[in-house]
Amino acid sequence: MKLLALETSCDETAFAIFDFTSEREFTILSEQLNSQIDIHQEYGGVFPAVAKREHTKNLYPLLIAALDESGLLIKRTQSTDVPQEIMDKLHVLLERDPDNLELLVRFYEQYEFPDIDAVAVTYGPGLEMALWTGFNFARALSHTISAELVPTNHMEGHIYASLITQNEEGVFTVQDPQFPNLNLLISGGHTELVLATSEHNYTKIGKTLDDAVGEAYDKSARLLGIPYPGGPQISKLADEYRSVSQSQTLRITLPRPMLHTKDYDFSFSGLKTAVLTQTQKQDEITNLFKQELSFELEESIAEVLIKKTKRAITEYGVSSLIIGGGVSANNHLREKFTELCEQERIKLFLPEKKYTGDNAVMIGIAGYRRFINKKYPKGVERVLGRLSLED
Ligand code: KG4
Ligand code: ZN
Repeated sequence: MKLLALETSCDETAFAIFDFTSEREFTILSEQLNSQIDIHQEYGGVFPAVAKREHTKNLYPLLIAALDESGLLIKRTQSTDVPQEIMDKLHVLLERDPDNLELLVRFYEQYEFPDIDAVAVTYGPGLEMALWTGFNFARALSHTISAELVPTNHMEGHIYASLITQNEEGVFTVQDPQFPNLNLLISGGHTELVLATSEHNYTKIGKTLDDAVGEAYDKSARLLGIPYPGGPQISKLADEYRSVSQSQTLRITLPRPMLHTKDYDFSFSGLKTAVLTQTQKQDEITNLFKQELSFELEESIAEVLIKKTKRAITEYGVSSLIIGGGVSANNHLREKFTELCEQERIKLFLPEKKYTGDNAVMIGIAGYRRFINKKYPKGVERVLGRLSLED
């Protein structure tokens, strides 16, 4: 079956079209991604109204590009009118997005129905203004082309992004992680330890009480004058310290927040305060200072994440650990968690670097698995900015 996926929960507008050939095998016919990072950089973070504007502008051109690349964009020999029932529905769903309404009407008039069985779309968690744009567009599209709508959880998408492997012929497989397993989700908005007892059945055992790991990276970066999102740059500076400057004595220490608490919760907001204090103590922000601070920040974050995850692995007797979310691109964490899982003799699932950040491929896989397992929510009429994996 063919499935189209759409993601607009934050600052990426992304489409993917899949051909699923069995329950766990697929090829990707097209992947389209437009990142707004450059636009948001001047605000120092993602600005919801700007994200909404950009998504609205990108949706239709990316849809056409995705269909075209998939070979599913076929002109009608004769233009046809949109039936009244579909027209009414489009008007309701895209009342606040007249440009895309008009474009989808023209799409119906000009193109054959693409051979797509389902449309998976992120309906949370994320920025509600951003989520609404993609959600309403996907609803309208699914009506226009008579495809099933599969509302999909963004964080479950990050989990599935870690489970895929690709062979030389380009065929992807969704691996079975075995249950129970533990999921460590680390992104710009989330830091969660989630136990999965079977597919789609989650229990959150730990979460951040304030900032997410990605935020700790981004906010610390900002204090060092590094533009949003600062995670990758901090990681680069830390690696420089490891490889070049580590012969110098480290003069900075940062706290290890909640390292010894008995729960599985985290707290990272104190780290940025500690970074601020360290920064204020300096007469001059040298490159060596930035490297040292980045190194110490990474060490602190890794130590806390590893210690709590290790304890949860033992307590819950899991057979695998799945790491997902934008921060899973971090090299230091990838190494540390690889070592941990070797020691614990459990399997580690990490996403390929390409799929660590937000994308529509992860949404399509999560949506497809829910679709074939008949476990997707029906009749969803609104996005949920704080949607949880337990909902
Ligand atoms: O999952 P994601 O793309 O978006 C959200 O759903 O939040 O995660 C983005 C976060 C940002 O905070 C970014 O700085 C962080 O992931 N990030 C990294 C690295 N690459 C991205 N953090 C640390 N090291 C990296 N290499
Ligand atoms: Zn994400």
